[in-house]
Amino acid sequence: MRQYQLHSRPGEGLDLLLKDVDEPTPLPNEVVIRVRATSLNYRDLLMRSGQSASSAKPGGTVPLSDGAGEVISVGEDVSRVAVGDRVAGCFFSHWIDGRFNMRYHDTALGGSAQGMLSEQVVLPEVGVVKLPDYLSFAEAACFPCAGLTAWYALVERGELTAGDKVLMLGTGGVSIFALKLAKAMGAEAWITSSSDSKLGRARVIGADHTINYKTSPEWEKLVWEQTSQNGVDHVVEVGGAGTLGTSMAAVGAGGHIALIGVLTGFNPPDTTLFPLVARNVRLNGIYVGHRSAFERLLAAAETHQLCPEIDKTFAFEDAAAAYDYLASGGHFGKVVVDVG
Ligand SMILES: NC(=O)c1ccc[n+]([C@@H]2O[C@H](COP(=O)([O-])OP(=O)(O)OC[C@H]3O[C@@H](n4cnc5c(N)ncnc54)[C@H](OP(=O)(O)O)[C@@H]3O)[C@@H](O)[C@H]2O)c1
Repeated sequence: MRQYQLHSRPGEGLDLLLKDVDEPTPLPNEVVIRVRATSLNYRDLLMRSGQSASSAKPGGTVPLSDGAGEVISVGEDVSRVAVGDRVAGCFFSHWIDGRFNMRYHDTALGGSAQGMLSEQVVLPEVGVVKLPDYLSFAEAACFPCAGLTAWYALVERGELTAGDKVLMLGTGGVSIFALKLAKAMGAEAWITSSSDSKLGRARVIGADHTINYKTSPEWEKLVWEQTSQNGVDHVVEVGGAGTLGTSMAAVGAGGHIALIGVLTGFNPPDTTLFPLVARNVRLNGIYVGHRSAFERLLAAAETHQLCPEIDKTFAFEDAAAAYDYLASGGHFGKVVVDVG
């Protein structure tokens, strides 16, 4: 069977190589999945660039955290799923519920653990969830990282309720998922983008207020005006150090910032954090989420028949082009690789 692997090379970045490898066989508590679709996240660009130590294993790392497919064989002790079940892998195979533990980092797919960009994968049975019938494999493959991160940030940790005001930054995978979830749950949604045409697309899928952060660099003032000087209740903060100051200026008293992303890099913020104190704001560090949250997300998504926004789908043979497309920033929502 065919499988992509990231391999170290001299100089910057890693090589994405397509290899022929043996089909996996499950240990007693493992399942083998015939992967039908995968999706890319910004993290996968960081992995390919070699910025993560975990992406350069000797012998190669199978990339991508996100994939969906059907179970084709199970180990003798497996009881949670059966052959033929439609499933997705969990980002952290062993984070089942409760608080995060640093040892879960060792089970992050497409990083410390082997990922989903492969015709078949073997996963521990505890690290998969069953899929509702209404989702295609391509749609389901958008949930494990972007979908769960948005849900865990807004609903599980953020305690979003109907009528809340929610601000999303940019129109990438996490933000567009958060927009769809926020609207499904009765929130009022703000979203920013560098592109007016993407803002138009955001309005079509429910955004109530749209702001171009390039042409309106002081966009927090617009948010402030549009919220009658109250600010928003939640910010889906995917920018990191370079946008945190603006996000703090846009959030209202008693509000919540979900600190998720590093789109502006890994440097420390060059802004005072005092607004967090002065406004009694909650700042939650978010790292995807656990399996129980994933199952609740899928149940809520089924109720609302919520489908992710897939911008473009690439064939398995063109996976490298999918990376390049994501890196170009031209996408709106998710980029998918159809594994066949
Ligand atoms: N902590 C976690 O659990 C977790 C999970 C998932 C993702 N993340 C992180 O969250 C971030 C987003 O991930 P993703 O997969 O959704 O990325 P993505 O799909 O690649 O989204 C990229 C988009 O973000 C927008 N953007 C870029 N720079 C921006 C800025 N300075 N201000 C506002 N928007 C900006 C752009 O949207 P426009 O083209 O509309 O301008 C760009 O197209 C990444 O840093 C990723 O590592 C973290």
